[in-house]
Amino acid sequence: MTSSRLSGRVAYVLGGGSDGPARAGETLAIGNGRAIALRLSAEGATVIVGDKVLERAAATVEHLSGPGLAVQVDAADPASCRHAVAAAAAHAGRLDIVVCNVGISGREPLKVQTLEDWGLADDVNVRSHWITAQAALPGMLDAGSGAFVFVGSTAGILSSRRSLSYEATKAAQLAVMRHIAVRYAERGVRSNAVVLGNIDSALVRREFGADGSAARARVVPMGREGTPEEAASAVAFLASDDAGYITGQSLIVDGGVSAAWPIPPR
Ligand SMILES: NC(=O)c1ccc[n+]([C@@H]2O[C@H](COP(=O)([O-])OP(=O)(O)OC[C@H]3O[C@@H](n4cnc5c(N)ncnc54)[C@H](O)[C@@H]3O)[C@@H](O)[C@H]2O)c1
Repeated sequence: MTSSRLSGRVAYVLGGGSDGPARAGETLAIGNGRAIALRLSAEGATVIVGDKVLERAAATVEHLSGPGLAVQVDAADPASCRHAVAAAAAHAGRLDIVVCNVGISGREPLKVQTLEDWGLADDVNVRSHWITAQAALPGMLDAGSGAFVFVGSTAGILSSRRSLSYEATKAAQLAVMRHIAVRYAERGVRSNAVVLGNIDSALVRREFGADGSAARARVVPMGREGTPEEAASAVAFLASDDAGYITGQSLIVDGGVSAAWPIPPR
């Protein structure tokens, strides 16, 4: 169910395309970024979609419920991040909501962690987020309002043993989120994160295969993976006035994983 609670707002989604296979029986691949853009639009926002691959951003914009714009942006390039924010703000006159969704997963535990993997994970998962926020902030401060939502991962609060760079950058991302929240709370700017667990996204199907879905679901107390649409509904809540007194928080969307004491599956 959606509403018009974001009517008149302007949102920018960094990483709002989708990269990976669609769900069975569907043609449009749905990842978290695309689902977020579609949801913000369905709730009335004008949505500017940034992606490294312009066609992916354009495919999202094609499916929006209202106005939008696709912009090319490489999150690994600070100048490109700043340029995309400027283009987004120029398109609609301002930015009320900025969602930093882009994120890449490393695969290297400490023993084999490389500088290259570490550097790229930091550039994309953390640096692009604070640079994007920094570029969008002055307009929000002038307006006396604005909402940032960062798309985080349970890897930022729990170790999956898999990737040092992913876990460390996802933890740092939450620090960026909190810093913005506390530093600018008095000036009407809110900053929060969704911390996602196992989501049946195009990213997961691409990197881990659709076949592992049942196995991934077994570790979740709710017994299933979440959907990108469920991730998007949490983002839309945090971006909206319904979350007007919420800032500096991590909303965990993981079907109960982080609340559970690990026991062997029955
Ligand atoms: N799916 C899950 O289970 C899960 C769990 C926890 C957290 N997350 C988080 O969700 C976010 C991504 O989810 P998604 O489903 O949208 O992923 P995705 O891989 O589909 O990526 C979304 C878009 O980001 C774009 N992108 C990649 N690198 C980029 C770059 N350098 N610059 C600009 N755009 C770039 C891709 O082209 C793609 O269209 C990440 O922050 C990830 O850590 C996902």
